[in-house]
Amino acid sequence: MKRFIFVSLLSIALALNGIAADTEYKQVLISVTTNSIRIRLPLTDVTGKVRVKELSPDGFGLPVAPTKTSLDKNFYLEWQIGYDTPEADSPTVVPEINFQRNGVTKYGHELSKLIFEVVHNGLLSTNDLARELRKLKKIRPDEFEESQPVQIEAVTNAAVDGFQSAIQRLPQFTKITPFGSVQIQLKQKQRAVGYQAMVYVCLPLDEMLTMDGSPRPPGKARSKETVYYDFTRANAAFLLDIIRAFGLASQQHNADMREILGKILATTR
Ligand code: ADE
Repeated sequence: MKRFIFVSLLSIALALNGIAADTEYKQVLISVTTNSIRIRLPLTDVTGKVRVKELSPDGFGLPVAPTKTSLDKNFYLEWQIGYDTPEADSPTVVPEINFQRNGVTKYGHELSKLIFEVVHNGLLSTNDLARELRKLKKIRPDEFEESQPVQIEAVTNAAVDGFQSAIQRLPQFTKITPFGSVQIQLKQKQRAVGYQAMVYVCLPLDEMLTMDGSPRPPGKARSKETVYYDFTRANAAFLLDIIRAFGLASQQHNADMREILGKILATTR
């Protein structure tokens, strides 16, 4: 009996250890070096917020199995970047940036941390940020992508065994830059009626680095491989495009971005 309890406890401990290691692997990390802000991203978390896709002419990209595909310049990481979290102790949090949303305290993270760090590191100026904030304030309600119409086309004469086919056209907006692109996709809400605008940052695989900062050579992903992407003086303005994407996505995202940029600017005075 004692032996049974011991083996059970050991199995539970090993399983918990495995879950902790997996959570650590999937965690996006942001660190500050002398001339760059470095992001660590998981390459093989196919069900998470960072997925490998192959470039496709329609711009939506095709999901691939990263450990079975040689990853080169024809592939990119699609990152559903976040900007706030209720978890005060998340590794990507900026504790100085916090605000109330529906009675919950939210802390800036991921995009908020990147902007905070590039401004405090002098890779972007406070003038750049203040200019962006003024632009966000000028976006009119009818310009929000979330208010763009979603079309449903019934295809006539195409009923198979009485099943009438219909096609849904979901808009997508992409801004391509030399450092990567940013997309706004309209998606059906998962737990409510209507559509929501999702923002994705697309980072080309040939811009990815290994831990020592050298370019990642093309090839299949190793199990639990992580890759790195640097924001430097050369590409820091790409962050302004990401901010703009949220500002255009919906009224709520626009309001959140304005709040966050205002708070970041206040920390620099
Ligand atoms: N809220 C936080 N991050 C988001 C994202 N990437 N897309 C849509 N909504 C979000």
